Amino acid sequence: MFYNAAMALDRDLSVAFVRAAFPEGPGDRRAWEMLAATGARGLRIAHETRRFADVLLTERVPAAVAVARANADALGLFGVRVEAADASVLAAPAAFDYVDLDPFGSPAPFLPAALAALRPGGVLAITATDMMVLAGVQRGAAERRYGSTPVRGRLGPEGGLRLLIAYVAREAARRGSGVRPLLCYLHDHHVRLHVRVAPADPTDAPPPVARIDPGTWTGPDLGLAGAAGPFWLGPLFDPALTDRLVAPEPAARPREAARLIAAFREEARVPAPFYYEPNRLAGGLGLAEPPAPDAFVAALRQAGYAAARTHARAGAFRTLAPRSAVEDAARRLAGIGHSQNERVRA
Ligand SMILES: C[S@@+](CC[C@H](N)C(=O)[O-])C[C@H]1O[C@@H](n2cnc3c(N)ncnc32)[C@H](O)[C@@H]1O
Repeated sequence: MFYNAAMALDRDLSVAFVRAAFPEGPGDRRAWEMLAATGARGLRIAHETRRFADVLLTERVPAAVAVARANADALGLFGVRVEAADASVLAAPAAFDYVDLDPFGSPAPFLPAALAALRPGGVLAITATDMMVLAGVQRGAAERRYGSTPVRGRLGPEGGLRLLIAYVAREAARRGSGVRPLLCYLHDHHVRLHVRVAPADPTDAPPPVARIDPGTWTGPDLGLAGAAGPFWLGPLFDPALTDRLVAPEPAARPREAARLIAAFREEARVPAPFYYEPNRLAGGLGLAEPPAPDAFVAALRQAGYAAARTHARAGAFRTLAPRSAVEDAARRLAGIGHSQNERVRA
């Protein structure tokens, strides 16, 4: 009951994240899982990380609360409270170091309560599964719900991730805080954010939140007919954190968790918004055959630009190079022929 096996890998990553974000033992640290269902995520975090002295799980469905309590008892966990409560109205101002918001659909209705519950400098983890909205299939709903015009098409999911971070950043700013992404990714049919939320300093640079105008945009082709956003155009990862991520053992999906963590680590070095796909680049440039993605990464690095494969789509890569340099690399690589391409890939 209320157990979603499809999110098992995501929960593996939650355990890895909490261990990396809070390297020291529990102290007086407190965590709140707002929408706990039967406790699969919150109890795994409590049991497998031991980083919190106090863990509050809230859930509004009484039958799920009963199962979560039984699960907590079976694990012999101290310091875990499971309460039947409406998380959107629960007021626990500035009490928690870590708040986890894992809804069916959009997190927006719960965001004010989540932000109010965080201690200054606390960490907010958010899942969103309303991908039809975030990834631009339902553009009007995205504009109403998140105040942003989405990207539609292949880059829509990353647009959704960046649109949601921008929304959280704006909501935090209304409370005088700023957000810093630690680990923000997309996987299957959801996006997941982990951001630090700290009081804004008037001397801070403005947050990298902006609209994209296709007339002046020099990144990957987003297929936009007009301006879109606002999006978060800054980093998705904190490299110091991704370097500390280790797939938990035992994990529900150990190989996939390790593979994603390795991708995050590489990608954290390339804080470029949106990614390129070799086949689309080749198609756009009229090249007979798309160069291999690793060949692009090697060629761009050789030319002095940061570049890495991305977790966001198989075969795609990110780079800080301008689009013109990426297109030059594509033409050069296409010119050197298949066998050399293969050698660069090896
Ligand atoms: C996606 S599930 C949570 C899954 C859980 N985090 C896990 O890893 O297994 C969302 C849960 O939120 C609960 N929920 C929805 N609205 C709520 C509210 N206002 N207050 C508390 N719980 C709520 C639902 O009953 C559902 O169990």
